[in-house]
Amino acid sequence: MPQSTFTEMCREELELCGIGPGSTIAVLSQGRERIEYADAFLEAAAQLGAVGFNVRLPASPNALDGEEGVWAVGQTPLAENRPAIEALKGVDLVIDTIFLLFSAEQLEIQASGTRVLLCVEPIDHIRAMPPSTRLRERVELAAKMLEGAKTLRFTNAAGSDVTYRLGAYPAMTQYGYTDTPGRWDHWPSGFAFTSGADDGVDGTVVLAPGDIIFPFKSYVQTPITLTIEAGRITSIEGGVDADLLREYMESFDDPRGYAISHIGWGMLETAKWSILAHDRRGMGMHGRSFYGNVLFSTGPNSELGGDNDTACHVDFPMRNCTLYLDGEPVVVDGDIVVPALQADGR
Ligand SMILES: [Fe+2]
Repeated sequence: MPQSTFTEMCREELELCGIGPGSTIAVLSQGRERIEYADAFLEAAAQLGAVGFNVRLPASPNALDGEEGVWAVGQTPLAENRPAIEALKGVDLVIDTIFLLFSAEQLEIQASGTRVLLCVEPIDHIRAMPPSTRLRERVELAAKMLEGAKTLRFTNAAGSDVTYRLGAYPAMTQYGYTDTPGRWDHWPSGFAFTSGADDGVDGTVVLAPGDIIFPFKSYVQTPITLTIEAGRITSIEGGVDADLLREYMESFDDPRGYAISHIGWGMLETAKWSILAHDRRGMGMHGRSFYGNVLFSTGPNSELGGDNDTACHVDFPMRNCTLYLDGEPVVVDGDIVVPALQADGR
C-alpha cells in the first residue's frame, strides 16, 4: 500500500478523533519501529491544520505489543522519561505506537485530559476494519447495557457456565477512535466490556477447539477447563493446550495473574476469526473484535480502575457462546440477538 493511502486513512481517523485547525497531536514511537506511522499521522495532522510532533524514544527490545507471542503489559520505556511524559500531557491527542496500555504513565497522561489512540497493528489490518460513527453507537449502547446490569453469565456447548457480579467497575468501549478528552481507544477495534467484582466471578469456563488464546495467537485444539472461584482461577485442566496455558501463567510467578479480567463481546463485522490460520502479524485485533465473540480474559484490571496491575494478561476470544445480562440473552450461540446492537445487514 502506498504511504499516501495510509496518510489518507490517518486523516480520516484524525477527523473522527476531532482533530482540526488548532488541535495538537503527538506520536509516540521508539527507534525505527513504525516510523511510517509517525510520518503518516504527522502529514495528516498538517493537512488538517493541526500542530504535530513525534516523541521518539530510543530503540528498546520489548514485547509490549504481543508481536513476539509473549506479552508483559504495564512496563514501558516511558517510565523513566519525565520530560517525554510531560510533552505527551501537553497535547490534545497522543498516538501511541509502542503500547502503553495498563501502565501508570498512560493513566497519568489520560488524567491530564489528553486522549490516547493506540495504533500498532499492521496497516492492512487497520484498513480492513475501519471505524464509523455507527459502530460507536452500537458499542456505546452495549456499554450502557453492561453498566445497567447486575449479573453477566455466559455458557457454551463445551460446558462453560460462569457468572460475574457486576457493578464494581465501569463499562468501557472500544470503537476505534476517540474524540473525548482523557479517553483511550485502539484503532482498529470494536467491542464493549466491563469487569466482575474482584471476588465476584464463579463458575467454569471451558475453552473449546477454535477459541483463540492471546498472546499465543493460536487456536485451542483440545478443550481447557478453567475452574473459577471468587474471582480467581483455581485449576487449569485438559490436554496439551491446558499444559501450555498453565506453564505460561506460572512463568510470571504472580498469584494476581490468576484473577479474572475484562468480560464483554465483539461487535465488529469486518474482523475475521480465521485470520490467525494464515496471518499471525500484529497483536490480534481481528481475533479480539470479531462479531459475536465473547471476550473472556484474565489478569490485570487497572484499565478499569482496579488495583491489580499484574503483567500476566491473557485474552480468550470465544466462539459460539451464549451471554446473558440479568438473565436476558444478548449473544446466542455466537450471534448478537439484540437488534439495536446488530451490525447493518446481520
Ligand atoms: Fe485484554
